[in-house]
Amino acid sequence: MYSGKDVIVALDFPNAEKTFDFLKKFGRSSRKPFVKIGMELFYSEGPEIVRKIKEQGHKIFLDLKLHDIPNTVKGGMKSLRSLGADMLNLHAAGGIDMMKAAVEGLSGGETRPILIAVTQLTSISQEKMNNELLISGSVGEVVLHYAKNAKSAGLDGVVCSPLEAQKIHSEAGREFLTVTPGIRFSGDDTGDQARVTDPLKARELGSDYIVVGRPVTKAEDPIAAYERCVREFCGGAK
Ligand code: C5P
Repeated sequence: MYSGKDVIVALDFPNAEKTFDFLKKFGRSSRKPFVKIGMELFYSEGPEIVRKIKEQGHKIFLDLKLHDIPNTVKGGMKSLRSLGADMLNLHAAGGIDMMKAAVEGLSGGETRPILIAVTQLTSISQEKMNNELLISGSVGEVVLHYAKNAKSAGLDGVVCSPLEAQKIHSEAGREFLTVTPGIRFSGDDTGDQARVTDPLKARELGSDYIVVGRPVTKAEDPIAAYERCVREFCGGAK
C-alpha cells in the first residue's frame, strides 16, 4: 500500500474553468501533481469533474469527508467507486461500524482506492476541541484513538496534522498512512488552520502525503511553490 511520499495540491476552486486554468500552468512542470478535489469543486461541477481531471493524467484524492449512518455511507461509497479516484475519505467520528461499511461499499472492483479517515480537522485547536466540541483529552490522544479505530475498521490511514504523524506511525504501524494538511511555509498566513508545519518539518515528522492548498494556489508563482514543496517534502527522491 505504501507508495512513498507525495505532495497533493488542493484544487479549492469554484468551477472547472478556474481549475483547468490553474492546471494548465503545470504544462511546464516535469510532473503532473497528485490533486485533491474537495466539496467546493465537486458540488459545483458534479462527478464528471473527477473523470475529466483523471483523463489529464492526475492522481486524485476525492475529499468529500462522508459522515452518516453506516448504510448510507456504504451506498455513498458504492456510488463514488466508479469515478476512479485514487483516494477517498470519511470522518472517523462516524464510528467503526460506519468505517467498516465504507470499506464494504468500496470493495468489489479490481483495486480498492485508498480509504482514509479524518481524525480532527487541522482547523480545530486544543481549546476548541475541549470547550466548543466538549471532547476531553489532548488533541494528540483523540487523534491517536480515532486512528486506531480507523485501523481496526480496515482503513488504510488517516488525515491528521503532521504534528501527530510520528505517534500514529509508532502505534498503528509504518504502513498506516498519514495524510497531512495544515502546511504553511514559515512566515505564511495560517488563515483558518490551527495545527500547522512547513513541508520540511512534515517530512521530518514522517508524514506520507502533505496536502497543500493556498500556499500553492495563491502563490505568485504556483509552480515554484509546488516544486519547493516537492523538494522540501520528498527530498528530491521523486
Ligand atoms: O489552503 P490550505 O492549505 O489550508 O488547504 C488545506 C486543504 O486540506 C483544504 O482543501 C481542506 O479542505 C483540506 N483539509 C484540511 N484539514 C483536514 C482535512 C482536509 O485542511 N483535516
